[in-house]
Amino acid sequence: MSGRIKQSSLDALLDRADLVEVISGYTSLRQRGVKYTGLCPFHQEKTASFTVDGSKGLYYCFGCGEGGNVFTFLQRMENLSFVEAAEQLAERFSVPLEFDEAGGGAREAHSGERRLLELLEKATAFYQRFLWESKEGSQARDYLLGRGFQRDVCEEYRVGVAPQGWRRLHAKALQQGFREQELEAAGLLVRQPGKTYDRFRGRLMFPLTDHRGRVVGFGGRSIGDESPKYLNSPEGPLYQKGRLLYGLFQARRAIAEVDEVLVVEGYTDVLGLAQAGVRNVVASMGTALTETQLELMTRFTPNVTFMFDADRAGAEAALRSGELARAQGLRPLVVKLPSGQDPADAATEGGAEAVARLTAGKVSILGYELERTLEKNDLTTSAGRVRAFEEVEKVLSRASSRKEREEEIRIIADRLRLSAGSVESLLRGAPGRSRRTATRGRSAGGTVTGSSGAVISPPARGGYEEGLRSPESVVEREFLVAAVSNPGAAVPLVETLTSAHFVDPVHRQVFEGLSAVLVAEDAVESLKGLTRLDSEVGRFFVRLAVETDPAIFTERKLEEQHLRLLELAYLREMAPLRRALEEGTADADAKRRLREKDQRLQQVRELISRMDE
Ligand code: CTP
Ligand code: MN
Repeated sequence: MSGRIKQSSLDALLDRADLVEVISGYTSLRQRGVKYTGLCPFHQEKTASFTVDGSKGLYYCFGCGEGGNVFTFLQRMENLSFVEAAEQLAERFSVPLEFDEAGGGAREAHSGERRLLELLEKATAFYQRFLWESKEGSQARDYLLGRGFQRDVCEEYRVGVAPQGWRRLHAKALQQGFREQELEAAGLLVRQPGKTYDRFRGRLMFPLTDHRGRVVGFGGRSIGDESPKYLNSPEGPLYQKGRLLYGLFQARRAIAEVDEVLVVEGYTDVLGLAQAGVRNVVASMGTALTETQLELMTRFTPNVTFMFDADRAGAEAALRSGELARAQGLRPLVVKLPSGQDPADAATEGGAEAVARLTAGKVSILGYELERTLEKNDLTTSAGRVRAFEEVEKVLSRASSRKEREEEIRIIADRLRLSAGSVESLLRGAPGRSRRTATRGRSAGGTVTGSSGAVISPPARGGYEEGLRSPESVVEREFLVAAVSNPGAAVPLVETLTSAHFVDPVHRQVFEGLSAVLVAEDAVESLKGLTRLDSEVGRFFVRLAVETDPAIFTERKLEEQHLRLLELAYLREMAPLRRALEEGTADADAKRRLREKDQRLQQVRELISRMDE
């Protein structure tokens, strides 16, 4: 932008810039002899450990170790480069800055730029005055108020309106000594063969500033339905959309304080959120966040949260921006809005509370992707669930670290109301794992869909599945699956059973969990809660949740397997009694019990055979 600042200018600056005055703008200082003390503006503290030595021009904090001179103070406080800090101080303390000539045109370019900035600044004030003070501004005023934007926030962001008419700004600027060329260079004038006219007419004007608050361009929104909705300054040396973040100037203190930046798409989103008290907000101005914009915000904080419109473009923007942020080693988060809403709606309609509720639900970018994956698939069908988990696997494989993967698993678990352990084991055992898909091509999903909708049998691997082949195990398992699928009908049946009806230890545990929740509260809700159990049991439920096809595990199936459970239990109970009878060791009581059980067994068997009719 300019050459090097001359050492003589820097010396003059150090001489003139009053450190105590500068620091007093950030924390209140009390004089103690030649020194001043106060609460440190760099860290949270209750007792003053921040000391300023005005005569030496130095500050130091005994609490956090921050220290330096007036340059470093501003650089740190405002996240400025050295030159930026120097320029700000030069302006404030009226010290002319001289530059080492970095080539012939540098000075000239610098002064040309100053003129343009001055022009843009004047135009901003002109549009602002026109909005609040002119009669013609009433339509725009009504529009803003109608959308819920109060005057305060509009003034903070310096919103204005460009008058109707072809050359209103033009006239004013020329009157103030600016030339047409300068208006054109500032992007405020359009030149066509034989005529020139104001670029912005009858539009709501959003000044675009750099992070120091210098206006470098405008976004002009049509007030009615006129097209285009937004007209922006043409890009030039001063204004490049991709190098700015709308609202960064107003937000920078809050961003550093909260240690997080909230990124939205539009101007109105920024206004809405700021008005609702969320001040650490900037807009990417559309959906294509650039690397430069990302770098700009990470000067203030590494914690970036995206809050884009709840439409397709917004979702895609979140994913793309998220990837960009991840590529730079950040851990971006995403706030999901109710569909069709944008942050401005949420903020102006629901206020600070609504925004807080929304931002509390932020998820990591991977988590966001995972949620979208889960939403895309119909989780009420077996095929849908399997596909969802396949995609989940793919997304998770992009996790950059084990830790990240684990965190994501926790998030999915939360969303699916499963335990993290369950999800982990589910993913480990899920069909269509990359290893398998690699050998079978992309057919895993298709195979599942095509297979008559029966339970998908995951590859047996350890645990309870080993015993799957025994008739008891099959019946027990199918009963449990059917119970999970039909919790309402399962309640009375479960109540007739005891742990003794289950041979397989895992099934028994599952049954115990099931009967505990089914009799309690809302059965369906409780079932979801059950899947939060860790261990084998949780794992089992997770698997059930994924595999169960309600079309197969109907109430009828539930009833049938209930009867079979009873049948198998009677047979088991009768076995030792029969043996005793054969060995002649059965007493009268044993004989009575055997008879009783045999009777019940016959009843159950009759019921089973009637089910086939
Ligand atoms: N944008 C732009 N040029 C366009 C369209 C959009 O620069 N032609 C940028 C603007 O910064 C705008 C943002 O993209 O603020 C988001 O666009 P959009 O959601 O369409 O507008 P909103 O800001 O939501 O405006 P409003 O709430 O008034 O509809
Ligand atoms: Mn929008």
